[in-house]
Amino acid sequence: MRHNHLAAASFAVALTAIGAGTAVAQDTVKIGLVMPMTGTLAAAGQEAVAGAKLYMAQHGDTVAGKKIEFIVRDDASVPDNAKRIAQEMVVNDHVAILGAGTTPSAMSMAPIATEAKIPTVVMISGTSVVTERSPYYVRTCFTLGQQSGIMADWAIKNGSKKVVSIMSDWAPGAEAGKVFEQHFTQGGGQILETLKVPLANPDFAPFLQRAHDLAPDTLFVFVPAGQAGTFARQFAERGLDKSGIKLIGPGDIVDDNDLPTSGDSLLGVVTAGFYSAAHPSALNKQYVAAYAKATGGKRANFISVGGYDGMHLIYEALKKTGGKTDPDALLAAMKGMAWESPRGPISIDPNTRDIVQNVYIRKVEKKDGEPWAIEFATFNAVKDPLKEAAAK
Ligand code: PHB
Repeated sequence: MRHNHLAAASFAVALTAIGAGTAVAQDTVKIGLVMPMTGTLAAAGQEAVAGAKLYMAQHGDTVAGKKIEFIVRDDASVPDNAKRIAQEMVVNDHVAILGAGTTPSAMSMAPIATEAKIPTVVMISGTSVVTERSPYYVRTCFTLGQQSGIMADWAIKNGSKKVVSIMSDWAPGAEAGKVFEQHFTQGGGQILETLKVPLANPDFAPFLQRAHDLAPDTLFVFVPAGQAGTFARQFAERGLDKSGIKLIGPGDIVDDNDLPTSGDSLLGVVTAGFYSAAHPSALNKQYVAAYAKATGGKRANFISVGGYDGMHLIYEALKKTGGKTDPDALLAAMKGMAWESPRGPISIDPNTRDIVQNVYIRKVEKKDGEPWAIEFATFNAVKDPLKEAAAK
């Protein structure tokens, strides 16, 4: 505690001394992303950064007459690092805008964004509460609740009655489980058991065995970006792909990054997700082709669009302010902004600063020899259900 107080005090002094946000050379705007480029959530950090870099490559590095200076630093998936790096970026690098990554790191950086008044675009975190941690936070990715409630309603309509949930044991998993279970039990379904799997180096086998033994008709699963491949392999190794138990979840379990190498193990799996590389729009086709070209052949995934759209939000906000980096002007420009993303139409809710987007029901099918999440139903302009519920 004592140490934290001291750190906070010296941060405040540093801010006043340099006049954070104003000491930047007039013709440059610095944007600093704090991302998990290594560690447990490295896959997500790398994908978000690849999306952000692709946006810059396509749209240039000059906006409203200002040269964009783009900085990425690795928090190694450690929240304390994220806070320290965010502080250094504000005090030493004089960034005007921050980019935040996964939930624990975004939570830890929030006081820095608030104190220094730095508009911060949340590009990976899917936990509802994150955007409430700072009035300077704006989200361009997703919430787990946004997908999980719709998944539950669909499962009820399509005959699921008994579910076992398998959740990665950290904030987004808890939220996916909570919203799913609320909707599913309200619809008359029963949750037989919720199984929590450690986030780091997960071994799903014992949990899959337990789930199988409980004989549900449906398995609802959340694993974060980077783990869908391991999950799919262990799911098939246990014979669960042939057990007759339906597998459903938010989009993360059919991550496009892992689908190409998942063989037949995920065929038929139905998810509620906001992005599929198979989304049939002209813009998405261009995006998927450009992403593959920029990354040595990788398939664009749901995390990458959070980074790509995050940069769009920043570029367009700067255009609206005429290149000025006044934090409140930038925030005002971001609130309510609407545009077409590779995922479909999206906007920033002006009241909550959270993303509003379509959620699609998708089924994994083989197309040209590879599995893809094929969209077959659309829920338009879905808001974060937890904020919606709180506002009532
Ligand atoms: C998160 O940080 O909340 C997060 C990261 C990866 C996911 C989902 C949620 O796939």
